[in-house]
Amino acid sequence: MRVAVIGANGQLGTDVVAALAEAGHEVVELTHDRVRIEEEASVQAVLAESRAEAVVNCAAFHDVPRCETEADRAFAVNAIGALNVARAAERLGARCVYFSTDYVFDGRKAAPYTEEDSPRPLNVYGGSKLAGEHLTLAFCERALVVRISGIYGRVPSRVKGENFVSKILSLAAERPRLAVVTDERLAPTPTREIALRLPLLLEQGATGILHLACEGDCSWFEFAREILEISGLETPLDPTTVEAFGSSVRRPEYSVLDSSRLVSLGVVRMPHWRPALRSFLQNAPRRAPSGASLP
Ligand SMILES: NC(=O)c1ccc[n+]([C@@H]2O[C@H](COP(=O)([O-])OP(=O)(O)OC[C@H]3O[C@@H](n4cnc5c(N)ncnc54)[C@H](OP(=O)(O)O)[C@@H]3O)[C@@H](O)[C@H]2O)c1
Repeated sequence: MRVAVIGANGQLGTDVVAALAEAGHEVVELTHDRVRIEEEASVQAVLAESRAEAVVNCAAFHDVPRCETEADRAFAVNAIGALNVARAAERLGARCVYFSTDYVFDGRKAAPYTEEDSPRPLNVYGGSKLAGEHLTLAFCERALVVRISGIYGRVPSRVKGENFVSKILSLAAERPRLAVVTDERLAPTPTREIALRLPLLLEQGATGILHLACEGDCSWFEFAREILEISGLETPLDPTTVEAFGSSVRRPEYSVLDSSRLVSLGVVRMPHWRPALRSFLQNAPRRAPSGASLP
């Protein structure tokens, strides 16, 4: 299949490009200098030229605090951008994949969220991504919305310049101790685990909404503790709360995704977040803090 990947050099896009190529697909890599998804003409021209049979939209404006103050930009990229990509894909008769987020939920549920649960975003980022989901599904007949959570990859997020794993490792090298929140729970997921499942989903023609996150769940504090332990770092970790941390943005306290629909589609189950993290840290080249022995 000929697949165009938008945001091809991003954290997720890099692994998506690699996984599609490894599965034998022809990949058209589209970076920001080639297409601005909020501009309809730009999207139409580039995708028409690509002659893609599937379009994977990994582009986003996902700096959560900045989305609060730059709502126009958040909706331009995450919602209107999604609409433009979906329409252009539909015009080509192509499939369209839109990556969304656990932040479409309000976090009040005490069990993992399924695809049937009603979204209720708490912040502008989540609202703009939910709008992008609706527009993608409405304007492309063969659309798949993939909700993911707490992602980390070999290439850190381009919008943020880091991911939680790289941030904890670099802070552990700089500071005598770290404080991490205990009152937000999620299922952190390596981008490679998401990307590896995409080729089969495309080949099978999966449509609708799909949750794709690692099994199990943890707080950011537990996630940080595991990162330090696996890396052989002894930097002390202090538990804190979102309130004490002084975050300006409301986020769901609990945004664990139930990924069992994946198995019903015949795709291999997601790993538990702990072995997935271990495998990532043991295989990924990373900055080694001075004096630390890395496994
Ligand atoms: N990070 C998380 O924990 C998380 C959690 C749940 C869901 N997600 C979702 O996962 C997806 C991928 O995130 P990521 O971490 O891989 O992001 P990323 O590393 O920041 O990559 C985003 C890519 O999109 C490109 N891009 C940004 N704005 C664009 C625009 N207007 N037009 C065209 N291209 C544009 C960027 O190019 P430039 O850098 O050159 O601008 C970059 O290549 C997003 O949909 C995000 O909402 C992320």
